[in-house]
Amino acid sequence: MRVAVQTRWCVTLVLACLTVGGCASSTGEADRRGATRQATLKVAPIPKAGALARPKSLRQIGLPDGAALAAIPPDNPQTPEKIALGQKLFFDGRLSADKTVACSTCHDPARAFTDGRPLSIGIHGRTGQRNAPTILNALFNKWQFWDGRAKTLEEQAALPIVNTVEMGQPSLDAAVARIAAIGEYQRAFRRVFGRPPNGPDLLRAIASYERTQLAFDSPFDHYISGDKNAIDASATRGWIVFNTRGRCNKCHALTEDNRDTTNFTDNDFHNIGIGIIRHNVAALARQAGQLINSGDSGAIDNAAIQTDMSALGRFLISKKEADIAAFKTPNLRNVLVTGPYFHDGSQETLWDVMDHYNKGDGLHNPYLDQDIQPLALTEKDIDDVVAFLASLTSPDYKELGIKELARQRALSRTTRPQRDTARAFGPKPPRPSPTSP
Ligand code: HEC
Ligand code: HEC
Repeated sequence: MRVAVQTRWCVTLVLACLTVGGCASSTGEADRRGATRQATLKVAPIPKAGALARPKSLRQIGLPDGAALAAIPPDNPQTPEKIALGQKLFFDGRLSADKTVACSTCHDPARAFTDGRPLSIGIHGRTGQRNAPTILNALFNKWQFWDGRAKTLEEQAALPIVNTVEMGQPSLDAAVARIAAIGEYQRAFRRVFGRPPNGPDLLRAIASYERTQLAFDSPFDHYISGDKNAIDASATRGWIVFNTRGRCNKCHALTEDNRDTTNFTDNDFHNIGIGIIRHNVAALARQAGQLINSGDSGAIDNAAIQTDMSALGRFLISKKEADIAAFKTPNLRNVLVTGPYFHDGSQETLWDVMDHYNKGDGLHNPYLDQDIQPLALTEKDIDDVVAFLASLTSPDYKELGIKELARQRALSRTTRPQRDTARAFGPKPPRPSPTSP
């Protein structure tokens, strides 16, 4: 019964998709590009833990007092030795099946703990379907992953280790066995946990290290805390547009009515029209139905990372129709240096992101969030919001941010694939109902 119903939703979606050129035409090309990438791309050398990898200060402007401590679970208290062990593991390729991929391969401190690619490349040069989010401030995420399929950092860390396009281990125990064969790790686990290496402790150590990655103290934080000259007039206007005509605060704030200067997220999931389901949907829905009912978290992880079902987003976890192609609202801190953007890395610049929002309804999409609508923002408004977003860059990435803003600005002066001024200034299109194809 459930499967039949799901099939109908998805068929509707694809029919909708096929009637709109953009979405259908990207299908084959994306596949071909993916195939080429898999065949030719090599996984990058493992980034080393340099100065940017160090645990961060708890005293940063903009970081609310006590917030970091409150994000530490009682059953995994922080100790300096545990954090050091976690850091070592985070940068160690020996956790992967062929020793070539570490967490830091895709979460490189020099790139603000991302890989700078649209889609990540893991073991044997295999490509996944999702863009790597930053680890910075991930301790504050209510949900981990774009679809929230893990709640805690401990739970999250287990999945890439065994994912076949990421680190490719047959099991967590296989990774533990690798680590347990190394004297230095044996001693470190004994010192920290009082027992030999094992899966749960390995995940605890990695999560402890991740919880030290706090990134606040941006020009915007200084502005909000009273230094009115910390950001320029353009960024100041951008912050106002963000909270008013831009409607960004509908989702990138804890509540719509209060300005939120901490995490810039409502901790919720929305379909904002990115990479909606593309092909062979009837089969996709059937597969999804069986998979979801199996409750197998490893299988769901594989589906999310390396199959077309990835585009189903939160639906893959919640089974709710309204969650089809819904993804987590990401924190916007350091967003300038963590592109490309969206769960599929489909947009290269913040101007492209703004063009997407400005035109509102990108696709004929029955599950589009009601808060997505044409915004009628001018070019100046768009530049201002981008300036505001750029002001969320932490001091560690100041130089990188300056370069990246110049690169994106130059690109935006010649290439604006998402710009659609007629639609941005037009009426809100009616939303198709899920049941009328
Ligand atoms: C091959 C690249 C790759 C490797 C290796 C990798 N990750 Fe990731 N990571 C990703 C991608 C892609 C996502 C998003 C996947 C999704 O949402 O479905 C992600 C998501 C995350 C998130 C969730 C962040 C958020 O905002 O939701 C955390 C935390 C994380 N990874 C930590 C780790 C840790 C710890 C390791 C090592 C044990 C690791 N990753 C290994 C690519 C990688
Ligand atoms: C209806 C809720 C909603 C509204 C309104 C909204 N966002 Fe988002 N935002 C999201 C979600 C959900 C995502 C992730 C979507 C995806 O990847 O499929 C996102 C992603 C982004 C990203 C990409 C971040 C990254 O790490 O890839 C940026 C930048 C962004 N939003 C900025 C804005 C700005 C600026 C506005 C206002 C013009 C805005 N958003 C309005 C929900 C919203």
